[in-house]
Parts: sequence; C-alpha cells; structure tokens
Amino acid sequence: MNSIRNFLSVYDLTADEIYDILSRAALLKADRTLGSGCLKGKKIGLIFEKSSTRTRVSFEVGVMELGGYPIFMSPRDMQLGRGEPIKDTARVLSRYIDGAIIRTFEQARIEEFAGYFKKPVINGLTDLYHPAQILTDIFTVYEAKSKMRNNTNKAADAIAGDAGDIIKNLKIAYFGDANNMANSWINLQAVMGFELVLAMPDGFKIDDLVAGESQKRGGRFAVSHNKIQAANNADVVTTDVFISMGQNEEQAKIDKLKPFIIDDAVIDNAKDDVIFLHCLPVHRNEEVTEAVFERFSSIVFEEAENRLHVQKAIMEMLF
Ligand code: CP
Ligand code: NVA
Repeated sequence: MNSIRNFLSVYDLTADEIYDILSRAALLKADRTLGSGCLKGKKIGLIFEKSSTRTRVSFEVGVMELGGYPIFMSPRDMQLGRGEPIKDTARVLSRYIDGAIIRTFEQARIEEFAGYFKKPVINGLTDLYHPAQILTDIFTVYEAKSKMRNNTNKAADAIAGDAGDIIKNLKIAYFGDANNMANSWINLQAVMGFELVLAMPDGFKIDDLVAGESQKRGGRFAVSHNKIQAANNADVVTTDVFISMGQNEEQAKIDKLKPFIIDDAVIDNAKDDVIFLHCLPVHRNEEVTEAVFERFSSIVFEEAENRLHVQKAIMEMLF
C-alpha cells in the first residue's frame, strides 16, 4: 500500500481532514512550542521557481519549529535551472531529504516531481492552485467570525464544534482574475460547501478543468459581472493581484479588471461584520483601495501570520 500523502491541491484532503488541520492550527497558534519534536531529524527541501516572502519564510520557520531542518533551493543555483529534468531532480533529492515544498509554474510539473520523489510533497503555489494559502484563509475566516460571534479573543476557542456551521453558512465573494486563488476557492467550496461568488469582467473564464472537477464533486459557484451584486450580503470579500507571477504585465488586462476593485461600495453592500482578506503582496489602488486595505489590515496581517500555524498543522499530518 502506498501511504505517501501529497498536498498538491485541496482535493488531496477530505473535509474532515481540513477540519482537523484547522483545529490543530488553532492549538499550534496558541502555543508555538507544541509539536516541536514532530519533524525531529527530518530534512525538508523547499524548491521555489518563483519569488516568495510569506510561503518560503513561514514554511522554513514552521519546519524549524517542528524540529526539522529546512533546505531552501533556488533553481538559479541548481542544475534544474540549467535544464536538468524535474524527474531527475526528484529522484536525486528523494535520496537525501524527507519531504518537499515546491513553488513552480504548471501543475503538471509539481505532479511530475511528486510522481518521482515518492515522499510527501506540498504545493507552495503553482499557476493553477495555492492550496496552503486557501486553508489559511478559511482558518482566518473561522477565527475572525468565531471571535466576533463568541466575543472571545482566544484563537484556540475559535475552532470549536461550531466550525462546520460557521463555514457552511458563509457567503464568500472573490473579486478579480480567474487565477490560482480563484481556482483554490472553487476547490475549497466543493469540499466544504459554502456559498461562493466570483466577480470578474465579461470575457474572463474559469479554467474548464477546474470548473468540471468542482461540478463532478458536487461543488457550486456563481460567476458575476456585477461587483455590487456579488458583494451583496457577503461575509468575506477577497481579491488577489490582477497579474500573477509568470504572466505578462498586460495593461489591457489590468484595465478590464479595474472596475472590480474592492472599494467602499463593495464593503457597504456586504454584511455589517464583513471581513476582507488578501493573500499578499497587495497592489494598493489596483485590486483594493488603500482605504479598504488599511481598514482591514489587522486581519490581513493575521492571515499572513496564520500561514505559519496552518502549514505546521499540514506538515504534521503529511511529513
Ligand atoms: N501569499 C503568498 O504566497 O505570498 P508569497 O508570494 O510572499 O509567498
Ligand atoms: N496569484 C498570485 C498569488 C501570489 C501569492 C500569483 O500567482 O502571483
């Protein structure tokens, strides 16, 4: 039996496993020393073919806090960057290290790596998905909504028996490009079952495979070209950069997306206790106004911190 678990997309986990990760993340957040022997003696490689601040540092720190040893590898310094095939890189590294976190371009590339590596692999962002981010985002939503509703400040209390009720009854509205964040929200919706609306310009289209897979799994999401309607009654509004890493800086694309900026009108149409999330880095006054971003900045930077706690819980489960 093959017991290797990868986390290449949200679909690699069941809803119950996601709830377990969220609960564990709350405990790990409340006590940073918890789980400190879990990766004792383990060497975890980080291969990043794109830039990163949060993902790289939160995973490196997370591996260290769990007692393991992170090894960051930039393709600039590797033979990978000079054309050594990913399958050969994977077969070599699997003889040295115990797990890997990969940030790369095509989803097929991380899948190929995982196929040859034969030890757990975590997706640290591809063109198609950003699953570690999306689990962090839903953790941040729970935490915030639960704190509001239960009037508590303790993170550990946030992940209680009411987690499923909170999540299933959310309306989440995403604004912007049909990119890896939009796709990850679609995946998460299919597993966890909240209401999801994606507001984007006419002519922008969700990847056929992503939409098809969601449908196959009983997922449901709406695409709207009217940002005020999309925001109506939302519990969470969120966005991402208009131009992702690896994409051309096309002004025409930015111009089309500009009307979907998250501004006061969006926030005013959402619920009174709406929260705003952004995976960062942010382009102020492009996908969100400076005023809205600063108004919700404390939760956005909490979201950034939560990468660490959620990813530690994912690594405990996989590595
Ligand atoms: N949100 C996120 O993944 O940030 P980095 O690109 O800095 O890792
Ligand atoms: N969609 C963005 C996310 C950055 C964290 C990108 O892929 O560049």
